[in-house]
Amino acid sequence: MPLESTTLPEYWDTYKPYRGEGEQPTPDVETFAWTQYDGHGPGEEFLGSPRTALELGCAEGKEAVYLARTGVEVTAVDFSAVQIARARRWWDGTPGLAFVEAEACGYLTTTETTFDAIFSIWGALWFTDPDDLIPLIAKRLNPGGVLAFSQAEPIEGYYGPQPMYGNGLAGRKLTLLRWSYPPQWWADLLKRTGFVDIEARVLPAPNPEDVGTLMVRASAPNKVLPADVR
Ligand SMILES: C[S@@+](CC[C@H](N)C(=O)[O-])C[C@H]1O[C@@H](n2cnc3c(N)ncnc32)[C@H](O)[C@@H]1O
Repeated sequence: MPLESTTLPEYWDTYKPYRGEGEQPTPDVETFAWTQYDGHGPGEEFLGSPRTALELGCAEGKEAVYLARTGVEVTAVDFSAVQIARARRWWDGTPGLAFVEAEACGYLTTTETTFDAIFSIWGALWFTDPDDLIPLIAKRLNPGGVLAFSQAEPIEGYYGPQPMYGNGLAGRKLTLLRWSYPPQWWADLLKRTGFVDIEARVLPAPNPEDVGTLMVRASAPNKVLPADVR
């Protein structure tokens, strides 16, 4: 029987709590990072030159802010009320930036907006069934628009939805699922969904013994597909 994720958005309320307690100062935003290593990997140029962008799973919102400050109109979505509240507290008033509290599939299903770029940095794309999410993303990209995402390098030979206890070993049992696949699997899914110019690879860590970063980028076709084949 397939395992259903019982993850609630509240699981993510404690992500990056900035220990030290109390109201935290607004952090500096100097870089746009896709990987888990400072100064490693590409920056915002990995997205091309979008005029509008949607981030799925923004948490504190630093990348969304960085992009908005370059003149891109950015919508940043996260289903954790705490993450969105903190992002708004920190970045409220940033021109061209909107934070939305919503689940990624729900948002993509209900919005009528389309975007030049949709991206996810260790975000909703890692924690949502890609067979559900990728087709919804395809429908909300402008012709030629870019989908780009990063997440941890998959563990070789262990692919698919991977359950873990999301609540430590005490308290209510909470199952968190992450979807991990090798680059070729992502390339095949994107191709089947109609994407073109697909690049999917593992970027090695600065120290090659450490965990690398799965980096994926693909474009929506330039021609709008007829509604019946979308
Ligand atoms: C590991 S964090 C990464 C956040 C941020 N991109 C970063 O690099 O720090 C994953 C984020 O994705 C959000 N998320 C996970 N699944 C989601 C979904 N289905 N819809 C919206 N947000 C989701 C979580 O609430 C969390 O803030």
